[in-house]
Amino acid sequence: MRILEMKFVKGFIKMADDGYQQGWHERNGGNLSYRLKPSEVEDVMPRLNSPGEWVPIGTSVPGLANEFFMVTGSGKYFRNIIVDPEVCLAIIELDDAGENYRIRWGLVEGGVPTSELPTHLMNHEVKKRTSEGRHRVIYHAHTTNTIALSFVLPLNDEIWTRELWEMATECPVVFPEGVGVVGWMVPGGRDIAVATSKLMEQYNVAIWAHHGMFCSGEDFDLTFGLMHTVEKSAAILVKVLSMSPIKHQTIMPEGFRKLEGQFNISLPERFLYEKTDPQAIGKK
Ligand code: 13P
Ligand code: ZN
Repeated sequence: MRILEMKFVKGFIKMADDGYQQGWHERNGGNLSYRLKPSEVEDVMPRLNSPGEWVPIGTSVPGLANEFFMVTGSGKYFRNIIVDPEVCLAIIELDDAGENYRIRWGLVEGGVPTSELPTHLMNHEVKKRTSEGRHRVIYHAHTTNTIALSFVLPLNDEIWTRELWEMATECPVVFPEGVGVVGWMVPGGRDIAVATSKLMEQYNVAIWAHHGMFCSGEDFDLTFGLMHTVEKSAAILVKVLSMSPIKHQTIMPEGFRKLEGQFNISLPERFLYEKTDPQAIGKK
């Protein structure tokens, strides 16, 4: 089968285009990666190019040795992925130390994998371990409302999680483990990758202040759905803040505790703190 006809490739392209349609990918903003299943590696193998040079990843991910990934190319526009995937995307292979990669398919007009490859791969390494291999997708997007909120809300995991949960009843059901926040950092290198992957030990969502969001998930639907839910909640909070400096009513801790039984989820107590003023926005 041609690589472009394979199910995981179609899913990858659809998700990228869904993100573009949401307005999260101006210019080359954002990037997406998928860790191939062994059966998918077998399927693509006869169609891969002969290996090129090994290139340093810029960090070390021994837990991903010899794995294959589909990734977006650095500087490539999400807008163009659906039109010309072989130009915008690559399949890369990691070496047996998890220190280097080489391109095995795609980027036919040249280029390199996303500049956020260190963060993607360090997140994949954490998630492969903590989800016992189930998580395969890491997604970064420039989500407008989340970015806007990062100028207004204190950069604190408890405050962000609680405010986002309060904005829509289903939020704690979709991300019961909460969200983590990384203060502003230079993107594209190992330092931000280390900070993000630390948060991924406990969360599936990491907010990058004044930049965007990273999400992790088992498949394309769950990962896109997670980002979509968090960003919608952020959009509601932006509207609330635009209408009023206070909340006249909201979902209270005892309400969240009732959801736990109904939806069979467990919400960490540190997000269910009693607020000094339940009407105040962005305060504990
Ligand atoms: P790339 O084009 O290198 O993927 O970078 C886009 C981006 O969003 C960086 O954070
Ligand atoms: Zn970015």
